[in-house]
Amino acid sequence: MTGRKRLAILGASGHGKVVADIAIQAGWQEIVFYDDAWPDRASLEHWRVEGSLAMLLRDLSSFDGVAVAIGHNVIREAKLEALAEHDARLVTLVHPRATVSPMARLGVGCVVVAGAIVNAFADLGMGTIVNTGATVGHDCRLGACVHVAPGANVAGDVEVGRGSWIGVGAAVRHGVVIGERVMVGAGAAVVSDLDDDLVVAGVPARPLHGAGPRGPVVPISHDAQLLKRLGLVLHKGGN
Ligand SMILES: CC(C)(COP(=O)(O)OP(=O)(O)OC[C@H]1O[C@@H](n2cnc3c(N)ncnc32)[C@H](O)[C@@H]1OP(=O)(O)O)[C@@H](O)C(=O)NCCC(=O)NCCS
Repeated sequence: MTGRKRLAILGASGHGKVVADIAIQAGWQEIVFYDDAWPDRASLEHWRVEGSLAMLLRDLSSFDGVAVAIGHNVIREAKLEALAEHDARLVTLVHPRATVSPMARLGVGCVVVAGAIVNAFADLGMGTIVNTGATVGHDCRLGACVHVAPGANVAGDVEVGRGSWIGVGAAVRHGVVIGERVMVGAGAAVVSDLDDDLVVAGVPARPLHGAGPRGPVVPISHDAQLLKRLGLVLHKGGN
């Protein structure tokens, strides 16, 4: 042990860089990456990638905290659960120039990026991301592993179900209830409630792939085995 405050980050990607930046600005002194694409992915910018999730589980006792930096909601939740089962010290990271009300509640593993605002009495589930410049209004209830993408605005008293994405620059009207695993497209305006498993886009937001629910949306680039095990549909729109 070095005496320095050490953070392990699972997920050596673009989002990983953002999470590392937040961690450094929030006072973490040493960042060590892990990624299941190791050893193919052996570095990220100037950071070394030390190993896979299995190796992180082995190394847990040498870290003061662990963050999961995976943008995809389903994958992030699976990794957070695996870490929690092994009693990892999962941390919540808030950029010093984000604004989070002291009356809001952030679940373990949440990440709030620069310029984001989380207002009074908002309640964010485990592993939820409020990305660059996004806003979450008062009394919102966001389930586990929701992702509010950059510049999206979620008005007050909105409910967003587990694993849903609010796409970049989207707007969600006050009081709307969005189901689980919904994908709200970039720039959409959600003005009425949405069932589970929908992909919606446009102003006002309408289902993109015909009427009615479809399978949960996940991008094709991720862990195919895991997705198969979870019974998920592959979809190229997740980014
Ligand atoms: C909505 C979304 C999931 C659809 O992805 P997709 O199923 O791959 O859809 P496609 O790109 O094949 O487009 C299908 C049609 O929908 C339209 N479309 C796609 N996204 C749209 C959007 N956000 N708003 C309006 N129309 C959209 C396309 O123009 C296309 O229209 P066409 O059939 O007339 O040509 C995706 O476009 C999107 O907006 N993702 C948000 C990603 C995001 O915010 N990521 C944040 C990362 S931090």
